[in-house]
Amino acid sequence: MAANTFNEQLTKYLTDVHSIEEQALAQLRLAPRVAGDSELRRVFAEHLRETEDQERLVREQLDRLGATPSTVKDVAGRVGGWGMILFARVNPDTPGKLAMHAYSYEHMELAAYELLRRIAERAGDRAVYDMAQRIGSQERAMADRLAGNWDRAVEASLREKGAEDIGKDLVKYLRDAHALEAQALQLLETGPKIAELEALAEVFREHLEQTREHQRLVDGRLAAHGSGPSRFHAGAMRAGAINMGTFFKAQPDTPAKLAGFAYAFEALEMGAYELLTRVARRAGDEETAAMAERILAEERMAGQQIAATWDAAAELALRETVGGRL
Ligand SMILES: [Fe+2]
Ligand SMILES: [Fe+2]
Ligand SMILES: [Fe+2]
Repeated sequence: MAANTFNEQLTKYLTDVHSIEEQALAQLRLAPRVAGDSELRRVFAEHLRETEDQERLVREQLDRLGATPSTVKDVAGRVGGWGMILFARVNPDTPGKLAMHAYSYEHMELAAYELLRRIAERAGDRAVYDMAQRIGSQERAMADRLAGNWDRAVEASLREKGAEDIGKDLVKYLRDAHALEAQALQLLETGPKIAELEALAEVFREHLEQTREHQRLVDGRLAAHGSGPSRFHAGAMRAGAINMGTFFKAQPDTPAKLAGFAYAFEALEMGAYELLTRVARRAGDEETAAMAERILAEERMAGQQIAATWDAAAELALRETVGGRL
């Protein structure tokens, strides 16, 4: 394979992670205002410093490979669009939602570096390989730190709103979970048609069945509280789904992007159920807490199964580029 083809490919993925880091910087600068808890604030501040280093390291590799600023600018919207679809339903206006959003974002970053590392390995580029490995483990560590702070995030969320009626809060969290499952259904129904990778399509199909059950279970708990899903959510979700299909089909490497996106989406759902478990327990609703824990385990498993397709997705991404160019 021609060296310049590999370099083009590397430059493309470096550009992607660079725009991910720029978006991360913007989010991390705002995070302390919403964090609502001193430990969470510290965690975000620490990762802001790490992220500043990451952005610089990626930029240095782009310079080394001779990427022009215009190349970098060209694709800056791409990953931004990715994040926009992923987080369209999450307005991180409470400490809980912020932690959930950040947890998912770290998984998106991790997926992007896992992909970059695989491309660098095949290109024989040691510097990019080492960098991707190092930054990837920082993203994973940040996700783990956030995961160690769900209690604090819930505590701060409920405290900030001065929640007198925990029952009302619980219904809100159930509705959020319901809305996320609706979005998941759209992703998993569209996914197999655009995956181009049988292993990934299969994970989507399997998880689609689980997801239907998740939504049914959440519906049941909403009904138990004399409530139902929010109508606003249902409408907005359909609009988001149309964008998603169009967006991924427009990507030059759909399977790899989709595998990263879906991984981050599972993390978003995990975050939602971590929060729901805790809010339910505070409300004394053991049944909802047990349900949330059970669903959480399936979301985690789905995330792991998606990650298991990354090798094949990276192979496919390289093959497609090379096939198209040589
Ligand atoms: Fe990062
Ligand atoms: Fe990060
Ligand atoms: Fe899921």
